Amino acid sequence: MTEEKFNVVGVNILRQNGANVDEILKGLIYNASVEFTAYYYFTNLRTHCTGVEGEGVKGVIEDARLEDLSHFESCIARIHELGGSLPIDAIEFVRMSGCEFLQLPTPTTNLQEIMMKCLTAEQGAIVNWNKLCNLSYGKDPATYDIAKDILKEEIEHESWFLELIYGRPSGHMRRKFSGERPHTQKHSRALG
Ligand SMILES: [Fe+2]
Ligand SMILES: [Fe+2]
Repeated sequence: MTEEKFNVVGVNILRQNGANVDEILKGLIYNASVEFTAYYYFTNLRTHCTGVEGEGVKGVIEDARLEDLSHFESCIARIHELGGSLPIDAIEFVRMSGCEFLQLPTPTTNLQEIMMKCLTAEQGAIVNWNKLCNLSYGKDPATYDIAKDILKEEIEHESWFLELIYGRPSGHMRRKFSGERPHTQKHSRALG
C-alpha cells in the first residue's frame, strides 16, 4: 500500500523505530471507514429520537455524530502522509466498516434500542482506536497523537450512553456546542 518510488523520510523513520507501517495504515483506513459510516447512521438514528424523551437523547447523539465526522477528518492527512489513500469506490469504503448493525431498529423510533446501538458503536470505536494506540505507541508519534485524542472522545461518548441507558454517572457536562470536539479539533481543522 505504501509507495516505494519516493524517499519519504517521514515513513522511513517509522520503520527505523520498529513501527509496522502497513498495519498502521490498514488500521487508519478501516477506522476512517467506521467513523464515516457511523456518522451517516447516527444521523438517521438521531432523526428518529422522537417525543419528549427523545428530545434529550437527540442532543447527545448529535454531539457524538459530529465528533465522528471529526474523527473521519482526523484520519485523512495521516493516511496520505503514510503513503495510503481512501478506496476509489465509496460503497467498498462503507462496506468495510461492518456498521450494518447501526441501521434503524423496529419500530424505527424505539429509543432504548437506538441508545443501545449507539453504545455498541462507541464501544467498538474504543477497541479500534486503542488498537491504533498500541500499534503506534513509542514508534509513530504523529499517528499516536491522533489515535489517543480520538480514543478520549470515544471514551466520553461511551460514558454518555452508559449514563442515558443505565444511570451510570458520567461526570460530564454537555459539550459547549455540538461539534466542539475538545480533543480532536486540532486534527480536523477543515471543519472550522
Ligand atoms: Fe468516532
Ligand atoms: Fe464516538
